[in-house]
Amino acid sequence: MPVSYEERLQGFDWSMAEEALGYKSGDPINIGWYCSDRICDMGLAQKPALIWENSKGAERTYTFDEIRILSDNIAAHLQSQGVQAGDRVCIFMDRHAELYISFLAVLKLGAVVQPLFSAFGEESLYTRLENAETNAVLTEMKHVRKVRRIRERLPNLKNIFVIDGAEKPLKELEQPLTMNALPAAPDFKCAETGPETPSVLHYTSGTTGQPKGAQHVHYSIVSQSITAKWVLDLQDDDVYWCNADPGWVTGTSYGIIGPWSNGITQAVLDAGFNTDNWYRFIAKHKISVWYSAPTAIRLLMRDGADLVKQHDLSCLRHLCSVGEPLNAEAVIWSEEAYGMPFHDTFWQTETGCMVVTNWPGMKVKPGSMGKPFPGITAGIIDPETGEEITEPGKVGIIALRPGWPSQIRGYRNNEAGWNKKFLNGWYLCGDQGSIDQDGYYWFSGRDDDVINTGGHLVGPFEIESALLEHEAVAESAAVATPDKVNMEVVKAFVVLKSGFEPSDDLDLAIMNFIRKKLSPLAMPQHIEFIDQLPKTRSGKIVRRILRAQEFGEDLGDVSTLMNDDD
Ligand code: WT7
Repeated sequence: MPVSYEERLQGFDWSMAEEALGYKSGDPINIGWYCSDRICDMGLAQKPALIWENSKGAERTYTFDEIRILSDNIAAHLQSQGVQAGDRVCIFMDRHAELYISFLAVLKLGAVVQPLFSAFGEESLYTRLENAETNAVLTEMKHVRKVRRIRERLPNLKNIFVIDGAEKPLKELEQPLTMNALPAAPDFKCAETGPETPSVLHYTSGTTGQPKGAQHVHYSIVSQSITAKWVLDLQDDDVYWCNADPGWVTGTSYGIIGPWSNGITQAVLDAGFNTDNWYRFIAKHKISVWYSAPTAIRLLMRDGADLVKQHDLSCLRHLCSVGEPLNAEAVIWSEEAYGMPFHDTFWQTETGCMVVTNWPGMKVKPGSMGKPFPGITAGIIDPETGEEITEPGKVGIIALRPGWPSQIRGYRNNEAGWNKKFLNGWYLCGDQGSIDQDGYYWFSGRDDDVINTGGHLVGPFEIESALLEHEAVAESAAVATPDKVNMEVVKAFVVLKSGFEPSDDLDLAIMNFIRKKLSPLAMPQHIEFIDQLPKTRSGKIVRRILRAQEFGEDLGDVSTLMNDDD
């Protein structure tokens, strides 16, 4: 049995997490080194670090020693091609082994790694590379075209490395990078980065403006490692599977850093969702700990418990979930289907690690996100006064006292945006929730207009900007609309310019126009043409009204809302 929550809570201090990692204040701290060299030093060099499989059935296993050597080779090669400490290096590829290993390589070099979801369209890619002033991109032939189309608008971009580019016709700035054929670099010295040295740069969407670059530092590993160990309950002989793509924070904090810093074997499946294939994968690799997401769990539920019985899933020992509200039904179903509940965890790109969790062994209340991780001071705050709400069940803003190791150090080039997240000494998560009489946290909804579709945050601004570029669109509002599987999907309300009439053809033309600009996730599922958008007196669009209509919610007195200029 894992050590109980109450016992861990007693006298917890982050220095205990430093100790568990073997880190002493004042020493260098490099995530790349902690995830490979240190694990080898601990005698685990020959232990599998990565079991990788793709949709075509190709399979490979890499030991900790191999990822140590290969990441050194990549780092040395990038260095020889002019990539320097502090540079931003974007990784833009499917879930190849190269993604995971070069993630460590960039960090070992002392550069900032910027992983981006390979499904991003060229405009989504452009806004993030432009904001990051990215110096190099690591990509593959399948996705290099998107980089080529925006390259000229990115003056800082000096190098494009193509992992399968050998003997392919490459363009300006491009060169092949064949991981297994790089010269050995036994003399490569890992950068002696400090705790505050920037490490990972993830982009996250807000209501206004372009996505914000959440800047993590190397010290983040202190809380990522201990939360992975205690909440995911990782044990030495586990085989762990995280469903998230490293383009999102779950895929790096718990799809790379968490398991590897603990010397845990992890499996990666570079293939889309397919229930049967997922169960086959679990059974084949004897996955014991599985970190998934509500949308996937709902899809598994849809395919039923019978399919579960066709596979031997007795290897599973512990299940966790993150990213969006995990319905009570999904928790109850998983108890029936797998013999254990999914344990919900709550956190954000900005928190870097889990902050509210269902601790292994703790009583699960289906539908609740659990309790704050030791060392995390959480509360429910009144957004007007900044005072803590102590009444059980009363909804306010979920907030955290700043200062845990993996909190981001700010949004890149956007100090004002970061400062806005704080009130009365609290960091505001931007989510509404409450605490019950037993101290369990319950999620109510987002406190802004950000859409959470299948666990991915989508900012309305990006969609509306893309729509506005179409010649027929005068103005638009993107809001969430309910969906059985993804919980929410995007719907766009569009006001047409005079001279344009609503029609199916125009609907299709606008859809095709924005499809090229946006990622598939951000694509509206529906467009509704309307005569005017609800606005405040000062002319701000009130998306909340449109959203409430979609969800059939009563907004109460809308006339006051319409006068509300916030
Ligand atoms: C937002 C953060 C952190 C990993 C993935 C998302 C929502 C996250 C839960 C949960 C209800 C959740 C919140 C949060 N969210 N976990 N367990 N229950 N909502 O990271 O993209 O930064 O999104 O996702 O709204 O603020 P992210």
